[in-house]
Amino acid sequence: MAALGGGGTLAATTDLSRLGECDAVAICVPTPLSKTGDPDISHVVAAARNAGTALGRGQLVALESTTFPGTTREVVLPILEDSGMQVGEDFFLCFTPERVDPGNARWKTRNTPKIVGGVTDRCREVAVGFYSRFVDRMVPVSSAEAAELTKILENAFRAVNIAMVNEMALIADRLRLDIWEVIAAADTKPFGFMRFDPGPGLGGHCLPVDPHYLSWRMRALDYRTRFIDMASEVNAEMPAFVAGKVREALNGVSKPVRGSRVLLLGVAYKPDVGDTRESPAMDILDQLERDGAEVLYHDPHVPEWRTRDGRVLRSHPLADDLLGGADAVVVVTDHSSFDAERIYRLSQLLVDARNMTAAVGEAKRTAHPQRWIVKG
Ligand SMILES: NC(=O)c1ccc[n+]([C@@H]2O[C@H](COP(=O)([O-])OP(=O)(O)OC[C@H]3O[C@@H](n4cnc5c(N)ncnc54)[C@H](O)[C@@H]3O)[C@@H](O)[C@H]2O)c1
Repeated sequence: MAALGGGGTLAATTDLSRLGECDAVAICVPTPLSKTGDPDISHVVAAARNAGTALGRGQLVALESTTFPGTTREVVLPILEDSGMQVGEDFFLCFTPERVDPGNARWKTRNTPKIVGGVTDRCREVAVGFYSRFVDRMVPVSSAEAAELTKILENAFRAVNIAMVNEMALIADRLRLDIWEVIAAADTKPFGFMRFDPGPGLGGHCLPVDPHYLSWRMRALDYRTRFIDMASEVNAEMPAFVAGKVREALNGVSKPVRGSRVLLLGVAYKPDVGDTRESPAMDILDQLERDGAEVLYHDPHVPEWRTRDGRVLRSHPLADDLLGGADAVVVVTDHSSFDAERIYRLSQLLVDARNMTAAVGEAKRTAHPQRWIVKG
């Protein structure tokens, strides 16, 4: 067991037999989708079984994994009750969603308000008592289910709004308009508008995944989550749109995709992190390779990148001849360390899926008013 500080009360271990020593057990295990797109809560079940085996009198068990409404009460509670103990009296169970935004310098665990819903009122009170020791603001809600749905509302809100602005980008492209100019103009409205930016598609293990937990749950209740389903559809189109822009840019200089060397910049799903889970860069890679391109990548946060067919690609250093030697360069993720001016200057053809080069004056003088192809 490795001590982490906290006056000796905080330590890391993989020894599950030590769970019984704890006053509180937080379950924050992955909640992915299965191959068929249904929720895979096997990790939650496994973790709950471990917590159940070691469950002690007075212990708090807090589920933090994002999941469908009902998981805490219908899945975790029966497992813990196998101990013979009574929830709300002998032990306490709550759902309190993980809201962390990795890489966010301003909003951390302490200053991000924490939603808590208990299986009983007493469960909620105990959970609030525990978390308020290190979180500034607690937001108690009436049930575990309300807390579970709150988390999915937050993520579905982002997924749907990003899809809406992505669709607007597809519309602007067909109208030969610059979507970023339109968004910047709309963003001057002091009320009633919230800015979202288009991009190469939705990534990460939360936004593309979590809303499907709700869709799955609602299918069982004979209800189709239309906004969520449509958002997934539109967001899933974006990598093909970006690959299409590469094709269009190459076509503009009479080069076929087959045999062209394409350099992807940034393959993590968002800026300044090394997480490539569900990154749209993978779909862009697949499509360009399928069309016969030789695809290389550079990402300062992702030294190695495993393709779907099991190859391990390595990040190339961003040397002048790498940038200048590529037939096309694609900004997939705009890490803050990228020098937009240099990338713009050295690239032969540049597709910018993040509007990173907006600040480079020349980028505005492009033959492509839509601005996805900023140099070509
Ligand atoms: N990471 C985030 O930014 C974030 C933000 C909000 C919500 N969430 C939610 O939090 C949950 C965890 O996400 P994550 O990104 O930390 O996942 P992750 O894939 O990094 O896994 C977290 C940890 O769980 C461990 N684990 C897996 N199965 C286990 C088991 N049976 N018993 C004990 N430990 C086990 C893994 O070894 C890993 O260390 C998910 O439900 C996710 O949706 C994550």
